[in-house]
Amino acid sequence: MKILVTGCKGMLGRDCMDYLAVAQEPVGVDLEDGDLALAGIAEDICQRVDPQWIVHCAAWTDVDGAESAPDQAHSANVTATENLAGWCGRSGCGLTYISTDYVFSGADAGGGYDEEEPRDPVNRYGLTKAQGEEIVAALSTPWQIVRTSWLFGDGPVNFPRTILRLLSQRESLSVVNDQEGCPTFTRDLAHVIGFLVHRGLGGIFHATNSGVCTWYDLAREVAVLTGSDPDRIQPCGSDVYPRPAVRPNCSVLRSRRLEEAGCPARPGWQDALARYLPLLTSGRSRFQ
Ligand SMILES: NC(=O)c1ccc[n+]([C@@H]2O[C@H](COP(=O)([O-])OP(=O)(O)OC[C@H]3O[C@@H](n4cnc5c(N)ncnc54)[C@H](OP(=O)(O)O)[C@@H]3O)[C@@H](O)[C@H]2O)c1
Repeated sequence: MKILVTGCKGMLGRDCMDYLAVAQEPVGVDLEDGDLALAGIAEDICQRVDPQWIVHCAAWTDVDGAESAPDQAHSANVTATENLAGWCGRSGCGLTYISTDYVFSGADAGGGYDEEEPRDPVNRYGLTKAQGEEIVAALSTPWQIVRTSWLFGDGPVNFPRTILRLLSQRESLSVVNDQEGCPTFTRDLAHVIGFLVHRGLGGIFHATNSGVCTWYDLAREVAVLTGSDPDRIQPCGSDVYPRPAVRPNCSVLRSRRLEEAGCPARPGWQDALARYLPLLTSGRSRFQ
């Protein structure tokens, strides 16, 4: 099966390219190959590659930036998805759309969200990703929506990378302890995406590393795993760090459909973090 991976130079896209290459040769495209929000460009790319399946990782991922640049976020997350979905509809190609826990508000989460729960985003990034989901879910060709959360992997910006830097610059730091979620290593997520694509399973799936924590818990674990004193990190409330975009206070994703599909159990987030951090501390990351 010929697979096209969009956003192939992004944090998740790179791992999808590496993992999918184990079974077949994926073709990757990124912004430098053309803006997928331009209908002619998306059409040209799809016609040239002529894939049987598209793993759509390309997106506007700057959550706070989406508040001040809503048109650009809409263009990347909605229009680009619409263009790819249009081609899939005409050609019969399958589409995997990577989505986010931020399609939920966090209100009344009751310990987490199942796949069927209604979308109710509270920020512009979440709104554009939810609109992208609606486009994909209306397809008559095979489609998958894979919601994930709190990604870390070999990219220039992610939470563990920021904490590692701050620990090297400051004596102590305060980290938000009133938002809960499921941290996810892009490498582990790429395996789940491969599992779903190869089986052609349809519908919405939640895919994260297992376990739940707050940003504070995650920051402490970064300290522990890199030999710093975790007590240099203090818990605080979100009100201490007002951000342009509101965040859900609980965006835990429950992965019932993935388990029913027989997907191997995903490693815990601490295990995933322990496998990721050496990339940063050994200087092997592409982004030093
Ligand atoms: N990061 C997270 O914590 C997180 C959490 C939940 C879900 N997700 C979802 O997971 C997916 C992958 O996220 P990520 O963090 O790996 O993303 P990323 O590192 O930001 O990579 C996204 C890639 O898409 C490219 N791109 C953006 N707009 C494009 C366009 N209009 N046409 C073509 N390419 C375009 C970007 O290019 P430039 O870099 O040049 O702009 C970038 O290379 C996204 O769908 C995201 O919404 C992410």
